[in-house]
Amino acid sequence: MLNFKRVSKSSIGATGLLGVIASMAFAEETRVTFPENLDELTHYTTVRRGEVTEHIKTTDEAIAAIKAGEPIPFGTHFVLEDYREGEIYRYFVMQKGEDWGLDYDEDRRTGDWQFQWYWGDRSINMDENTARCQGCHESQESSEYLYTGYRIPHFEGTPID
Ligand code: HEC
Repeated sequence: MLNFKRVSKSSIGATGLLGVIASMAFAEETRVTFPENLDELTHYTTVRRGEVTEHIKTTDEAIAAIKAGEPIPFGTHFVLEDYREGEIYRYFVMQKGEDWGLDYDEDRRTGDWQFQWYWGDRSINMDENTARCQGCHESQESSEYLYTGYRIPHFEGTPID
């Protein structure tokens, strides 16, 4: 089960209890926050899929940890910036936090990582159920649930294309 402690008082006030129940049923609150330091994250690889160009970024600390074969520190963000025709379309964000995995049943859990989909204006896509993100990324358990983490040991400052 998700931990709903984070539903703020103001959102309860604004929408009433029914609104909160509705958002629990249909929307996906997770613990992920949009990275405040997006511009400071390091772009380590680019993935191109037809019209879509994905810039994938994380912190220098996470890059150093992976290169050293150590666990990725709590608080780390991984961001996939999805560009279409040169414009940002959406951001896919993964973030790791201490014991965040405990918010979910074991069959859904992806270590201590949680997921979120933000639109280009950084608003959350409230139609997305992030269980779908986890369902795919769980196959990457052996590499901290990352698909492109294997590229990081080869990263020397120029994004790997
Ligand atoms: C169908 C499988 C699938 C689903 C569903 C999926 N992903 Fe991914 N994700 C990938 C793949 C594959 C990559 C590697 C980049 C690529 O190939 O486009 C990736 C890469 C990422 C990355 C960059 C770090 C990494 O793992 O390499 C982030 C962040 C990410 N996804 C977040 C999300 C979020 C958030 C969602 C849900 C909104 C999501 N993903 C849903 C397959 C998936």
